Amino acid sequence: MSWDRVWEKVFQEHEWGKYPEIDFVRFIARNFYQKDRTSVKLLEIGCGPGAHIWYMAREGFDASGIDGSATAIKRAKTRLESEGLKADLRVGDIEHLPWEDGTFDAVADNECLVHNNKGSLEVILKETRRVLKAQGLFYSRTFSDEVYKGKTYQNLSDMEYNTSSDGLFAGRGFFRVSNEESIRALYGSQFNILSLDKLDYTINNGAIRISEWVVVCQK
Ligand SMILES: C[S@@+](CC[C@H](N)C(=O)[O-])C[C@H]1O[C@@H](n2cnc3c(N)ncnc32)[C@H](O)[C@@H]1O
Repeated sequence: MSWDRVWEKVFQEHEWGKYPEIDFVRFIARNFYQKDRTSVKLLEIGCGPGAHIWYMAREGFDASGIDGSATAIKRAKTRLESEGLKADLRVGDIEHLPWEDGTFDAVADNECLVHNNKGSLEVILKETRRVLKAQGLFYSRTFSDEVYKGKTYQNLSDMEYNTSSDGLFAGRGFFRVSNEESIRALYGSQFNILSLDKLDYTINNGAIRISEWVVVCQK
C-alpha cells in the first residue's frame, strides 16, 4: 500500500480544483477528439475528486478513475451523477489497478505519482503499462526538482521529501520530485518516451516557482 492517508484529511477539509488542467485538455484533444469517443477508454490514476474525469466524461469518452481517498471518489461520483454523466470510479491503491490487461487507450497521471516513492513508482509504472492497449499512451504531469519545496522540509533521500512547511506541499505528506535523468530511467524502463516538456511559472508575485514535467509515453 503506497497511498498516504493524509489525502483523506485533505479532501475532508478542503475544496479541490473542479476544472481540468489546460495541458491535459490539449493532450486529449490532440490524440482523441477525432476518434469515436464512446469507444475510447481513458483512465486517470489518483483522480482525486475527479476534475479530469468530469472533463473526459463530459466530452463523451469512456472514463475511469481510481484514488485511495473514499471521500474524493464519493465527491467525484456525486458531481457526475448531478450532471447526468457516467464514469467507472474505484477506491484503491494504484499499485494494483483493478482492470484487465490491455483495457485502456490512455492512462493519465495529474500530479499523483509525485506522492509515491521510487519503489512504488516502479510498481505503478508496470501496472500502468499492463492495463494499456498496445501502443496506448501514458500522460504524466509531475513536479520537477526545481519546484518550490517550502521554507523547511524533511529530506528523506535523493529527491524524496516530507513535511513541507508551506507552499504547494504543505499538509500533503510525502513527495518525490523528478529530474530529466530520473524520468528517462524510470519511465523509459517501461515505455517509449514520445515527448518530455516542462511547464515553468511563478505564483504569489514570484514567491513560489512551479516547475512540472509533462511526459507523454507510448507502450
Ligand atoms: C495532488 S492530488 C491530484 C488529484 C487529481 N489528479 C487532480 O489533478 O485534481 C494527488 C492524488 O493522488 C492520490 N494518490 C496518490 N498516491 C496514490 C496511490 N498510491 N494510490 C491511490 N491514490 C493515490 C491522492 O489520494 C490524491 O487524490
